Amino acid sequence: MTVRTLSPLDRLLSGIERAMEAVGGSPEAGRRSPGDVVPDVAMEEADRRHAAGLMRINHVGEVCAQALYVGQAALARTEETRAHLMHAAAEETDHLAWCAERLKQLDSRPSLLNPLWYAGSYAIGVAAAAIGDPISLGFVVETERQVEAHLAEHLQSLPAEDERSRAILRQMQEDEIRHAQNAQERGGVDLPWPIPGLMHAASKVMKTVAYRF
Ligand SMILES: [Fe+2]
Ligand SMILES: [Fe+2]
Repeated sequence: MTVRTLSPLDRLLSGIERAMEAVGGSPEAGRRSPGDVVPDVAMEEADRRHAAGLMRINHVGEVCAQALYVGQAALARTEETRAHLMHAAAEETDHLAWCAERLKQLDSRPSLLNPLWYAGSYAIGVAAAAIGDPISLGFVVETERQVEAHLAEHLQSLPAEDERSRAILRQMQEDEIRHAQNAQERGGVDLPWPIPGLMHAASKVMKTVAYRF
């Protein structure tokens, strides 16, 4: 079997294809949604809307995760780091697909601003990778930790009867914890001040906007 190394053009084209899938909301999950085994129950209109707002935020978070990882992989210094980032991106594709499916079940839609979220996150990923692999991996550690903390908040905030969304978020939280650990083991360093605070502020803006739009 011949193993072909991807040229920069191949990478660019596959990156564009991935972006269209993420933004278009039609990615295919490798694993079945953890929500599938949980019975869906009818909710009050206000609860349904609230659950949809939260799941839209989570969907945007996964669009951003895709874009970050792919942007970071584009400029990774070693093949090993690149492979690691692309493997993590594949797990984020599952999260993306599960959130997209749940949004449909909740009679809702993904964020209208997804192309913007994707482009911004991709640029941040490229910038982190340009500094070098230890910072880039450190960026993964910080991102995943912040996402994990935010998922914990959503697990509390979801309507009590929405166990189906909760099952999805629980599996995502488990995966994000592992992503952070893996990136740290591969040499991710602590990010210098004020980057973690800026990341937190940026995600707060994203959450406020994505809840509605
Ligand atoms: Fe994720
Ligand atoms: Fe992750």
